[in-house]
Amino acid sequence: MRVLITGAAGQLGHDLRRLRPEALALGRAQLSITNLGAVLDAVRGCDLVFNCAADNAVDAAEADPERALAVNAEGAANIALACRRQGARLVHFSTNFVFDGTLDRPYLESDPPHPVSAYGRSKLQGEERVLAELPSALVIRSSGLFGAVGSAVKGGSFPERVVRRAQAGERLRVVADQRLNPTFTLDLAAAALELAGEGMEGVVHVVSRGCCSYWELACEALRLARIQASVEAVDSAAIAAPAPRPRNGCLGSTRVPPLRDWQLGLEAWWREWSALSQS
Ligand SMILES: NC(=O)c1ccc[n+]([C@@H]2O[C@H](COP(=O)([O-])OP(=O)(O)OC[C@H]3O[C@@H](n4cnc5c(N)ncnc54)[C@H](OP(=O)(O)O)[C@@H]3O)[C@@H](O)[C@H]2O)c1
Repeated sequence: MRVLITGAAGQLGHDLRRLRPEALALGRAQLSITNLGAVLDAVRGCDLVFNCAADNAVDAAEADPERALAVNAEGAANIALACRRQGARLVHFSTNFVFDGTLDRPYLESDPPHPVSAYGRSKLQGEERVLAELPSALVIRSSGLFGAVGSAVKGGSFPERVVRRAQAGERLRVVADQRLNPTFTLDLAAAALELAGEGMEGVVHVVSRGCCSYWELACEALRLARIQASVEAVDSAAIAAPAPRPRNGCLGSTRVPPLRDWQLGLEAWWREWSALSQS
């Protein structure tokens, strides 16, 4: 089976490559998914495609929504079109940011999306365009991803940035009123491979078990790193980020069980990341 991974230099793409080293893995430099001709060429001969490419600059998207749409909606549609023509299966990734975060329980696959940010709207359009083009596609929504190789556009994963800032002696202020399921990309990659193998279709939520605030996540990362630094818990209003974010970004699923507890995923991340950063 010939497998293609797009966005392969990102944190999720990197971990999928590790689990499927024989796959054709193309980063943005080798394949921009906004280039339909190049996408058609790359998908030719493939049986299964994992689209990990995305524009994840959540705040920047507020000022320049077209940039996010070009990759997250148009680019995703290009991949789906190419998969349909080729007869390839597609696994596409989306986000908890398609929800507005006003519910008082984890969001299920059946809950209606209602994004509050330009990034969230671009990802929702991506889901819709992928499924319109290729109804058999699998759209995996996840939340709070962190990998040993962090997201370049964010300057590393969230726990990595917290640890680095604490090591540098910087003041740490982290929102305590936004919740998420912190999910290790290696766990998500393994689940995506399994669900693709089972031939699952449609939208599914795949996240770690358990939900916490960014503040709790920051404290847990520092505990693992054995750094004694205080983390000030603040409200979203105190940070005043350009993009609004869902307060409740927690996902649940009626289709699949959750991955391991987020604390265990974070522990595994810490072992890998600390080994990598010392090498
Ligand atoms: N990060 C999260 O917390 C999170 C949460 C929920 C869902 N997700 C979703 O999960 C998926 C994987 O995210 P991730 O965290 O692995 O993101 P990531 O680390 O930012 O990786 C995304 C990759 O896509 C590349 N890319 C950007 N524009 C491209 C284009 N036009 N053509 C090809 N590649 C392009 C980026 O390259 P450059 O670095 O060169 O721009 C980057 O390597 C995405 O669909 C994302 O929306 C992420």
